[in-house]
Amino acid sequence: MWFFGHIYYAIQGIYMLNQERMPVHVAIIMDGNGRWAKERGLPRLAGHNAGMKAMKKIVDHSDKLGIKHLTVYAFSTENWKRSLAEVSGIFKLLVAYVKSDLKELVENNVKVKVLGDYSSLPGDAVKSLEKTLQQTKDNTGLQFNIALNYGGRDEITRAVRSIGEKIAAGEIAPSDITEDLISGELFTGFTQADVPDPELIIRTSGELRLSNFLLWQSAYSELVFPDVYWPDFTPEEYEKAIADYQSRERRFGGR
Ligand code: FPP
Repeated sequence: MWFFGHIYYAIQGIYMLNQERMPVHVAIIMDGNGRWAKERGLPRLAGHNAGMKAMKKIVDHSDKLGIKHLTVYAFSTENWKRSLAEVSGIFKLLVAYVKSDLKELVENNVKVKVLGDYSSLPGDAVKSLEKTLQQTKDNTGLQFNIALNYGGRDEITRAVRSIGEKIAAGEIAPSDITEDLISGELFTGFTQADVPDPELIIRTSGELRLSNFLLWQSAYSELVFPDVYWPDFTPEEYEKAIADYQSRERRFGGR
């Protein structure tokens, strides 16, 4: 790295990133694994495997760039509609990832959190996740949030249900409902993973949708859609997306 005031030039990229305007939270929809595999005449799972390798590099690079939160959309509430072979293959990859990388995550001071109700995942995946959450819980570096069995509507529905139960129990009144109260009840809320809203959401593969990802939290997020499949999303592509974000003026509804 070559430092010049607060601006540095990342050695493997060509993008001038402003350290002072680094997003605190980047969230990524890792799309295009299937198409990447199809173009190479490979099974879809080979695409997910390549996607996992890309994900590892982006975790490392987030840490290097000083990003505090990285969230990846690994499995949505809708992904259960895929074939049993693909679904179980993705969870096997998750177990393999924990097996091969947990030590490194602990050493690199990464704290892992899950967004979503992961209790309905296969038993070995639940076990791997709980081990990961436990062993990284006191880490203070990058927080790596993995969205698993996650859906934005499901998350909001659960929050509304929980608030309704609190009202029924007489713990709060309807007039106590505020945006902060709702935010607190989400998977990202301060009593759960405690994640700020993402300044930047990246979706690879050229699809221009949020697909039920962080619906509440994305109210003012900047969206970037790199035209590469997820397995081809390199640290350089990542820096390009951040440079795009940094070039934008954020007004939050003001002038
Ligand atoms: C979307 O591409 C990708 C997924 C639904 C799975 C993402 C999983 C990984 C990157 C690897 C596993 C990592 C963990 C932590 C479980 P797609 O299959 O929808 O691609 P397509 O639109 O081209 O078919």
